[in-house]
Amino acid sequence: GKGNYRHFMEKELHEHPAVLGDTLRQYLDPKTLEVRLPRLPFDPARITRLTISACGSAFLAGMVGRYWIEQLARLPVDADVASEFRYRNPPLPEQGAAILISQSGETADNMAALRLLKEAGQRVLSVVNVPESSMARESDGALLTVAGPEIGVASTKAFTAQLAVLACLAIGFGRARRELSTLDEGRLAQTLLEVPSHAAAILEQDAQIRELAAEVAKARDVLFLGRGALYPIALEGALKLKEISYIHAEGYAAGEMKHGPIALIDSEVPVIALCPSGPLFEKTASNLQEAAARGGRVMAFTDAEGAKALSRFAERVIVLPQLGEFSTPILYAIPVQLLAYHVAVLKGTDVDQPRNLAKSVTVE
Ligand code: M6R
Repeated sequence: GKGNYRHFMEKELHEHPAVLGDTLRQYLDPKTLEVRLPRLPFDPARITRLTISACGSAFLAGMVGRYWIEQLARLPVDADVASEFRYRNPPLPEQGAAILISQSGETADNMAALRLLKEAGQRVLSVVNVPESSMARESDGALLTVAGPEIGVASTKAFTAQLAVLACLAIGFGRARRELSTLDEGRLAQTLLEVPSHAAAILEQDAQIRELAAEVAKARDVLFLGRGALYPIALEGALKLKEISYIHAEGYAAGEMKHGPIALIDSEVPVIALCPSGPLFEKTASNLQEAAARGGRVMAFTDAEGAKALSRFAERVIVLPQLGEFSTPILYAIPVQLLAYHVAVLKGTDVDQPRNLAKSVTVE
C-alpha cells in the first residue's frame, strides 16, 4: 500500500535514498571503494563501440550513461530511443555490444530492439528492474536495479537506480579499459556513496520545492535547461512535468537556447535551470543571464557556491548539497521529479495514473 503517503509516486520519491543505497551496495564495495560487476556478456576492454537503447525516462538515463561512459572509459557510445533505433538500420560493429535499459523489461519497442541487436550478432546486457521480465530473460546478461516495485506511472526511483547502475558500469568500464587509476576509481566511488544521504537531505527541502511548484503550476509553458550530463536531467524534468501535470514543458541543452527557444521567453515562462558549480557553470550561468535579461523568470537549482552568482538575477534559487560533479545527475533528478509531483498535486490531476498513459508500454 501507500502507507502514510497520498500517492504511490510520493511514496516512491521518498524511497530514493534507500533504493540508491541498495543499488549501489549491489555493485560497489563501500570498504575498498571498488566497483564489483558480475560477469558481463562482453569484455568492455575489447569493444569499439556501445549501443544504448531505451524508451522514455529509461532512455534519459541512457543519455546520462553515454556522458559517463564516454568520459570515464573513452568508449564511443550511441544512445537512441528504441522506436528510432530499430527502424534506422544502424550499422553495427562485428562483436559489438549493447545496453538496454528498462524498468518493466517488457516495453515493446525495446524488445524489438533487443531481437534486432541479437540477430545482428551483438552481445546484449540489460539493466532492468524486474528480474523475471522478458528483457532480462532474452538478454545475454542482466544487471538488476534494486528499486522494488514501482507503481506510479511516472518513473522515479527506478530512474535514479538506473543511473546508479550506469555510474558503476562507467567506472567498471573505465578500469577495464585502463582509463581510470585506482585513485580515480576510489574518488568516484566515494562521491557515489554519498548520494543516498544527500538524496535524503533533498527530500527534506520539500517545502521549498512546493513553493516553487506553486509558481510553476500557474504557467502554460516551462523550459528546463541543463548542460553536460545534466542536460538529460533537464529532459527528465520536462518529461515528468508534462506527464503528470499536463503543463507543456521542454528540456533543452543550455547552450542551444539561443538557437531557437529563447524566442519563447517572456515574463510568463519559468526557466528552470540545473546549474551546479563546476567546469560548466560559467557558460550555463551566462545563458541564464541572457534569459533573465529578456524578462525570463529564472528558477535555479544549484549549490551554495553557484548560488552566489545566480542569486544576482534569478527569481528563485534552490540550494542543493554540493557533491562531486560525477554524481550530480543522480542528485538533481530528485528535485525535478519532486517538483513535477507537487505541481500535479496542485493541479489536481490523477498523479499515479495520468491520462492516456500506461505503466508498461507493450504496444509498438
Ligand atoms: O518500463 P520501461 O522503463 O521500459 O518504460 C519506459 C518508459 O515507458 C517510461 O520510462 C516512461 O517514459 C515513464 N512513464 C516516464 O516517467
